[in-house]
Formats: sequence, C-alpha cells, structure tokens
Amino acid sequence: MATANRGQWSGKTGFILAAAGSAIGLGNIWRFPYTAGENGGGAFVLLYLAFVLLIGIPVVLAELSIGRTTEKNPVGAFKALVPNSLWPYLGGLGVLTGFGILAFYSVLAGWTLSYLYGGITGVYGGAMTAAESTAIFEHLIGDPTLSISLTAAFLFLTVIVVRKGVSGGIEKATKILMPLLLIILVGLAIRSLTLPGGVDGLVYLFKPDFTKITGSVIMSALGQALFSLSLGMGAMITYGSYFPKTENLHQAGMMVAAFDTTIAILAGIIIFPALFSVGVAPDAGPGLVFVVLPTIFGSLPGGQLFAIAFYALLSIAALTSTISLLEVVVAYFVDEKGWSRNNAAWILGALCFVLAVPSALSSGGSEMFTNFLGSGVDFLSWNNIIWGNYSLSLGALLITFFVGWKWGIPAAMESLESSGHKLPGAKLMGVLIKFVCPIAVGIVLIYIIVTQQYF
Ligand code: PFF
Repeated sequence: MATANRGQWSGKTGFILAAAGSAIGLGNIWRFPYTAGENGGGAFVLLYLAFVLLIGIPVVLAELSIGRTTEKNPVGAFKALVPNSLWPYLGGLGVLTGFGILAFYSVLAGWTLSYLYGGITGVYGGAMTAAESTAIFEHLIGDPTLSISLTAAFLFLTVIVVRKGVSGGIEKATKILMPLLLIILVGLAIRSLTLPGGVDGLVYLFKPDFTKITGSVIMSALGQALFSLSLGMGAMITYGSYFPKTENLHQAGMMVAAFDTTIAILAGIIIFPALFSVGVAPDAGPGLVFVVLPTIFGSLPGGQLFAIAFYALLSIAALTSTISLLEVVVAYFVDEKGWSRNNAAWILGALCFVLAVPSALSSGGSEMFTNFLGSGVDFLSWNNIIWGNYSLSLGALLITFFVGWKWGIPAAMESLESSGHKLPGAKLMGVLIKFVCPIAVGIVLIYIIVTQQYF
C-alpha cells in the first residue's frame, strides 16, 4: 500500500504531510475518546461524523481555496481579498485562537513526554490495574514543577522546528511516522477488541442513544470535528498557501480529512473496549486516555516496546500539531509585522509558555486554577472549550460566510480547480459552504447562548 501511494504522496508531499501532521494529534487520540465518553458515546460519534462531512469538509475546502489564491497568512489573506475592511480581524481571531489552543495543548503534549520517559524506563511494560495507572497519572498532573517543566520542554521543541521553517526533514519523518502510528493503533485496537468485556465498549461507542443529545453534546461534536481537522483558525489557509499550483488541492484536502477521522475512530476502538474491560467510567474526563492506555500495554507481547513506540509517535503527532499552531502565529508576525522568523518563534514561544503556566497548574498544582472561578471546571478545560469549541466554531461560521457571501463560491471553486482537476459534487459543496455551514453553526451557537448549556 505504501509503495502504491508513494508517487502520489511525494507529488503533494509538502501539503499532505504538513496538513495531516497538523490534523492528527492529541485531538484524535486524547480529545476524541474523552469527549465521546463524556457526551454519551454513540449519538455523539454519529453527530461528530455528520459534522465532519457536512461542515468539516466544506470548511477545509473554503480555507484551502483562500490560502491557495492569496498565498498568505490568515490576516494577510483577508487583507489581500478585501482591503480596508473588517475581514482581516477574522484572521486576527484565528491568530489569537492558535495562541489560545497552543497554551493548553502544550501542557498535554508535555504529559505525553512524561509517558514516553515512563515507557523507556519500564513503567508501562508489565500488568497494571486502573487504580495503579490513575495514581501515576495523578502524581504527574498534580506536580507543578514537573508539569511546567514538561510544558516548557515541549514548547522548546516546537520553537526549534518553527524557527527554521517546517523543514524537509520533518516532512520526510512525518511520511514514515504517521503510517507507523496507524500500524501501532491497529495493533492496539486488535488487542483491545479481544479483551474480556470489550464488546460493551464498542456498543457504547457506536450504538446511538438519541435521548442523550443535548445542546452541549451537539456543540461538543461540532467543536471536536473542527478541532480535529485544524479548522476555523486559518491553519489550513496558511497550509493551502504552500500548495503547488499544479496539484489537485481538493483531493488532498479530502484525503487529510479521511485519514484524520480514521485515526480518531481507531482511537475510540482502542479506548472504549479497554475502559469497559478494566472498569474505568467512560465519562472520567480529560485523564481518560492517559489512565486507560497503560493498562493495555502490559497484556501485549513486547508491551514495553509497544508503549515506547506508541508514546514516541504520540509525542511526534502532537509536535506536528503544535508546529502548525505556532506557525500560524509566527507567520502573522513575520509577514505582517516584519519580525524575523527566529525572533518571532522565540518570543511567541516564550509568551505562550507564560500563558500555559495556569493550565499546567490546573490539575491539582494550584487550587485557584484547578477549580477555576469556582466553576468546578479546571482552567485547562475552560481553555479547551473556549478556544477549541467556541472560537473555532465562530471562525468556521465567519470563514464560510465570507467565502459564500463576500468572496463568492465561483472564486473559491476556481481556486480549488485551478490545477485542472474538477471538484466532484462542486454544486453541492457550494451549497454547503454558502448555506448549510453558516446557518447550521449559527443555529448551534445561538441555541447554546439561549439555553446557556455552555459546558
Ligand atoms: N488538529 C489538532 C489535533 O487534533 O490534535 C489540533 C489543532 C491543530 C487544532 C491546529 C487547530 C489547529 F489549527
């Protein structure tokens, strides 16, 4: 399979690898399973898949078309298309959102580094109960110094890559590592499915119980679809701007969406049977994946190697996502403010670290951030919801409104088809971008405001 695809991949290497690297990350493997678990399972998953198809793919194409036409960062792109208007502020919202997401995402990414270290030192090789695994996790997240240091380490790695520009080396590495991640995930899924009681997990994940659908479940599914595909903040505008003019852009965009969604579902197929088997509650929250996975490694042949490979690949998948988050912010300061790439990467990386500290302290390190504003919800989760659900949704609404009603579907289609490859179902896509996306996202947001089901 790899050989057959290779020619196609290397033709579009830069884009597909960078975009798949951006899309595939903790959103798939950490956020999808725990959000599905918190929101009742099957009905959430169905909504998520519907949103990927009806909103995600149109927004992917809308963002890519803007990027390809303007060849600019999100702010510069809107400036180029409608100078002297308020539209560039939409790009500004994207830059701000990139920062907001990076400031909590880097904390979680830091945790994966700690698990990688644990894998190497043999913590995850043998049998482990859910209680033992929970104790390890709580020790990690509750230790302020450790959590902050790991966040700093991860941001440091991100800055190192971004200051040089996303290099050929990273692209080549992604080409091998992402398929490897897929193979490891398939292996874990097979193990998980054969665990005693695992079938109950699959039923929970795939059997929709429509009585579970509430405003906040719908909002979470929409947010998850956008977050997982890196949409609504201009990351795909930025990446579309680097896409070769002669290549088939819409096909590449759809491949990335399909790959990303497959990885998320696969993560669900790993986590849910396992959690039912070891007796962890599906709605255990953000710690779910960190607690459940170590309980499977011990029962695998070569468990320690599996654990090392898995956490190494997860850290890299997270890194290719944090790179894209910082890249959007850096591209803005380089292009629009004339900063050098090196300075922008270091300064913005450092600033992001400062903003990440409260999130790193919000899982027990500091009471103030653990129970933020007396809400019972920690600061990291607040950020995850505000930036990851609401800001991306607002961004997606405005981007599709812009393409549908201001810039125009014909201009977007011309951009997507400029390589001479016709977009199959172009008419339907136009309708989705112009009507379905802004109206559906608008209704969801208004419903949330009216019913006040924010979380
Ligand atoms: N899509 C990434 C993930 O699923 O982990 C997270 C992300 C990256 C969101 C880049 C948004 C973004 F612009």
